[in-house]
Amino acid sequence: MLRRITNLFNRKEMADENMLLQSVDRNRIPKHIAIIMDGNGRWARRRGMPRSLGHRAGAETLRNVVKLCSELGVQYLTCYAFSTENWKRPQDEVSFLMDLLVEYLEKEIEELHNNNVRINAIGRLDELPSQAQQALARAFHKTGNNTGLTLNLALNYGGRREITDAVIEIVNRVNKGEIKCEEINDVLIGQSLYTAGMPDPELLIRPSGDCRISNFLLWQLAYTEFWLSDVMWPDFQRQHLLEAIVGFQQRERRFGGLIKK
Ligand code: IPE
Ligand code: IPE
Ligand code: MG
Repeated sequence: MLRRITNLFNRKEMADENMLLQSVDRNRIPKHIAIIMDGNGRWARRRGMPRSLGHRAGAETLRNVVKLCSELGVQYLTCYAFSTENWKRPQDEVSFLMDLLVEYLEKEIEELHNNNVRINAIGRLDELPSQAQQALARAFHKTGNNTGLTLNLALNYGGRREITDAVIEIVNRVNKGEIKCEEINDVLIGQSLYTAGMPDPELLIRPSGDCRISNFLLWQLAYTEFWLSDVMWPDFQRQHLLEAIVGFQQRERRFGGLIKK
């Protein structure tokens, strides 16, 4: 009986997914999607489980989301995995998250590589534990020439830190005489950020009901469309991503101008 109900449920989900897939305009898939992968802890707590199991379930969601983005032809997927503020958490949670990163990279690398995914990371990677740095270096090396989706992991990432680092780099270049102060503009600043060379995200998704940026991509989100969802990240399924993309495609983006009617 339970299996029958589960099957019916799965079939309904599949039907929803197929309907959404038909609604997606393949010519207007966002080039760059950013996600604040939030809600792992609450998801676990509600089930009476330790927060770590929420993070593990969240890694599984990431796997499915990366696969769908690849299938849809998204070019960049930037996922907030660990912020510069997340070091404030208890030491055992921080250690678990760092170990999970290494495990994720080692377990998923073959499949990611076979799907032509290029792995990249933004943030102060030099401050991560050496095991994490080594796993990242291996992933960059293996997938560096892939031409499909770029999976951009935001690790020890903070938007304010990124802008501060950009300012320091620009000031150093001015002091060395490489550029003049008058040459500083938004293009140069963009090129000095960790995301240099990437288009700004068109769509930002934050699951789990909180409505804030939490120091994510402060510069790059200037005209990004926000999609806030109450679904906890571990429960975020393919159809939720498709809903976000269909919703995005229905938005009118004006960039401060007017749309001709
Ligand atoms: C997001 O889930 C993962 C990280 C920040 C590393 P949380 O751990 O923030 O989960 P909640 O927000 O406490 O539910
Ligand atoms: C943002 O989530 C960081 C990541 C998802 C990695 P947080 O859970 O750290 O954000 P706050 O503390 O609720 O703003
Ligand atoms: Mg959170």
